[in-house]
Amino acid sequence: QTCEAEVLLFSVPSYACQRRTTLQNQNAVLTDALSLLAENAELSDEEGRGVAFRRAAAVLKSLPEPVTSMTQLRGLPGLGDHSLRVIKDVLENGASSEVESTKRSERYKALKVLTGIFGVGSKTADRWIRDGIHDLRQLGDSAHTLNRAQQAGLEHYDDLNQPVTKAEADAIGEIVEAAVVSVLPGARMTLIGGFRRGKQTGHDVDFLITHPEEGREVGLMPKVVSRLEAQGFLLYQKTTRNSYLESKDGPGRPSSNMDRFERCFSIFKLTEEERGGMKRADTERESDAHSHTSHQIHTRGRGLEAADEDEGVAEERSKPAGRKRWRAVRVDLVVSPISQFAFALLGWTGSKLFERELRRWAGHEKSMSLSSHALYDSKQSRYLRATSEEEIFSHLGLEFIPPSERNA
Ligand code: CTP
Ligand code: MN
Ligand code: MN
Ligand code: MN
Repeated sequence: QTCEAEVLLFSVPSYACQRRTTLQNQNAVLTDALSLLAENAELSDEEGRGVAFRRAAAVLKSLPEPVTSMTQLRGLPGLGDHSLRVIKDVLENGASSEVESTKRSERYKALKVLTGIFGVGSKTADRWIRDGIHDLRQLGDSAHTLNRAQQAGLEHYDDLNQPVTKAEADAIGEIVEAAVVSVLPGARMTLIGGFRRGKQTGHDVDFLITHPEEGREVGLMPKVVSRLEAQGFLLYQKTTRNSYLESKDGPGRPSSNMDRFERCFSIFKLTEEERGGMKRADTERESDAHSHTSHQIHTRGRGLEAADEDEGVAEERSKPAGRKRWRAVRVDLVVSPISQFAFALLGWTGSKLFERELRRWAGHEKSMSLSSHALYDSKQSRYLRATSEEEIFSHLGLEFIPPSERNA
């Protein structure tokens, strides 16, 4: 029997934004299990359950040591009955039966494959599944019309489901920054999202653009996009203009979670030269293991020919190494006026749970309202200005947490 004093107990504050969460996760087996259930809930439009699993996973990510017994979890915040059951299962049996059966379920597998298409969210995927579509081939054979984003997503399915490396993010950064500075001298660009938090790979690359003189940034995005397009770098782009001023949002109360910055969701064409010589090994692997899904996409749309699977494969193999000399990468661009830059930077650095927890802290603990545009203090009935992330944390009464420790 273990005596109480021998059990290592952890002390953890309840909001993720009060904690330092690095990428050195000591409890990956447990957090992978909880994250999969979170993902499954999100894909099933059960946001509340998703958040509960994400919060539980985040608490475990912040622990300095691996959890080995249930007693160590006593007093920890954010662990509901369901999460505790999952953790217990993993600790006692090496795996969670709920996670394993979810992974095997046709519905989960179909949701994963279909939402793996850029432009397809859980609602669309659910609709398709109800129509009996579970994979890309069935989608291609169906009469469903795809919008422009989804068409691009399907066309570049394999590339977009291949993690983006930091080296690729940097290469894209140089190209985009050159375009930005050429259309607006003095403009500045910052890497945001997961790469700013120190991640070595990501599902996309995110950049925030501003100009030190307020107002100079207006209308910048279409110019940057035209330039990149003329240079042949964009396989797809959708630009949305800034709608902050005309929005009906109350003080610091956005009507949706989306912010209203001028932005561009794009698919970038990164060639081998730009990726640099070091990338060769990667490309080799891509073409060797040339995936199934890609084959399905190639055959799709070839009409009757598409039915002949063997022919499709033979054709692929006959191409010398079947090697294309570029890859598609998802890139998000956001433009912020300098007066909102610190809020945009904080709001777009993530992680998503860290952001959610910051807003929850602001609202519940401080009667403030935080968005990627501003911080509003309800007690004082005024906006609180900030020119740095440090100032925003200070307004919120929080210790500053650097980006590398926001990996909740
Ligand atoms: N974000 C946002 N509004 C969106 C999309 C994203 O505010 N419409 C924010 C997210 O809250 C997150 C950041 O932008 O803080 C980056 O989002 P995303 O690229 O989806 O996630 P990453 O943390 O960068 O992770 P990954 O490596 O998978 O890209
Ligand atoms: Mn990202
Ligand atoms: Mn993004
Ligand atoms: Mn192919």
